[in-house]
Amino acid sequence: MSVDWRKYPDAVTAAQACAQHILAVLEETLSGEGLATLAVSGGSTPRPMFQEMARSRFEWDRVHLFWVDERAVPPADPQSNYKLANESFIAPAHFPDRNVHRIQAELGPEAAAGRYENEIREFFGLSAGELPGFDVIHCGIGPDGHTASLFPGEPRIRDHDKIAAAVWVEKFAQWRITLLPGALEAARNAVVLACGPDKADAVRAIFSGPYDPMQWPAQILSRNLTSVTWFLDEAAAAGVD
Ligand code: 6PG
Repeated sequence: MSVDWRKYPDAVTAAQACAQHILAVLEETLSGEGLATLAVSGGSTPRPMFQEMARSRFEWDRVHLFWVDERAVPPADPQSNYKLANESFIAPAHFPDRNVHRIQAELGPEAAAGRYENEIREFFGLSAGELPGFDVIHCGIGPDGHTASLFPGEPRIRDHDKIAAAVWVEKFAQWRITLLPGALEAARNAVVLACGPDKADAVRAIFSGPYDPMQWPAQILSRNLTSVTWFLDEAAAAGVD
């Protein structure tokens, strides 16, 4: 399967291009729908993506914002994915608070995951067993090929039925709340933003290696989605050029 990927000189231009692509897909969605849904990830790479979105004039009151994953920390914690998005996007874009569906990680991992799953089910009007079709999801990858908070060896990588769960991440000795593969695969459009030399080996394995999502969880994104576009800087693309 060929992966739609685009290469940029550096991490900032890759992030800005990813932002513009997200806006274009949201605009296309809103040409036919009253609302659009966007689920974002965290980490360090997406900050310039969020800042680009905040600088762009957009009908944010017609967009509902969700998260792909969250660390089990309070929203003011430096590790919080919400904190990153709030500082670099929600606040500067004057994104309407009523459209922000934050993972309330301060409730504790299991309670937060259950609450988040219910909030998604209610917003999308899902019956039991149905999965949300986010209009756009944004994911990153780690050097180990993880995406969302699905790290290599995580048993939930085999779960294509549930929406979200709390997972223990041994690598960081941390609980996280994450969308599960079924919810990622049900997205109408996906973008993956991956930058830096430490991602090059993972990108090559994800794109060209044997399909083994237990070892390379981000292959969920490169092999199982109908519309996914990867935004790489030259360093991360070094192994696939
Ligand atoms: C998180 C993210 C995670 C992230 C990758 C890449 O909560 O950390 O959702 O999946 O996208 O770990 O993170 P960097 O951008 O920091 O490399």
